[in-house]
Amino acid sequence: MKLKVYRYYDGIEKPRYDTFKLEPTQGMTVLGALFQFQQKFDDSIAFHYSCRGAVCGTCAMLINKVPRLACRTQVTSLLKGELKIPLSPYPALEETVEWNPEEEILVEPLPHLPVIRDLIVDMSKFFDFYKYVEPVFKPGDPTPEKARHMDPVAIPELELYTNCILCGACFGSCPVDGSDPDYLGPAALAKLYRFCIDPREANGIERLKIADIPRGWWDCEFHGNCRRVCPKDVPPLIAIAKAREQLNQEREKIGDK
Ligand code: SF4
Ligand code: FES
Repeated sequence: MKLKVYRYYDGIEKPRYDTFKLEPTQGMTVLGALFQFQQKFDDSIAFHYSCRGAVCGTCAMLINKVPRLACRTQVTSLLKGELKIPLSPYPALEETVEWNPEEEILVEPLPHLPVIRDLIVDMSKFFDFYKYVEPVFKPGDPTPEKARHMDPVAIPELELYTNCILCGACFGSCPVDGSDPDYLGPAALAKLYRFCIDPREANGIERLKIADIPRGWWDCEFHGNCRRVCPKDVPPLIAIAKAREQLNQEREKIGDK
């Protein structure tokens, strides 16, 4: 099999693709294949990773035209065509590069973020949008003498959103993030919703209003790519739909008065 890897660094005229031949071993991941590329072909290749266990979220990249975690994507499954995920199209998916999916694995940087070098992108915009939604607990009342216990009934829904590892795969898969550079994106909106529905929060509906702006809840076009690529099954679409519904109900209440 071959690994076809996007290469870019300051000083080169335009990006290129390097192709490296390797023997896949049982259980080899794309991250493992990149280590071989680094050790046997070119040690200047740049990519991010840390935990190697789908926890830190740093190894998200475009693999066979789908944003995925390199540390949990097995090369043999890719070659067998087992990991196909149909996505709503956007420019980075349609860019044509010569590639034979039966014997090559195509590895490119996460779309919608500027490339710093090779497979490393500048995540500043993603984290700026995350900070914009103020992803911290705001109970409103004074510090209690006893611990604030979570309502067990609320936990299953909250957990859907707390599972996010901030890998950015959803951001890199969203056609709206590709066309509107200001759209807050699925991860930030899902996280905001998580705080809005926390029963310990002082005023969840008020927090929903942070994203009651054109580039927030209302910019989503419900393509669903975010849910399909999320390695943790976070459902941003559900959060966005529910937030819209709650805001609309709130408006109706105000209109009725
Ligand atoms: S919602 Fe999923 S895909 Fe998006 S950043 Fe979180 S873990 Fe990654
Ligand atoms: S290396 Fe941590 S998620 Fe892949």
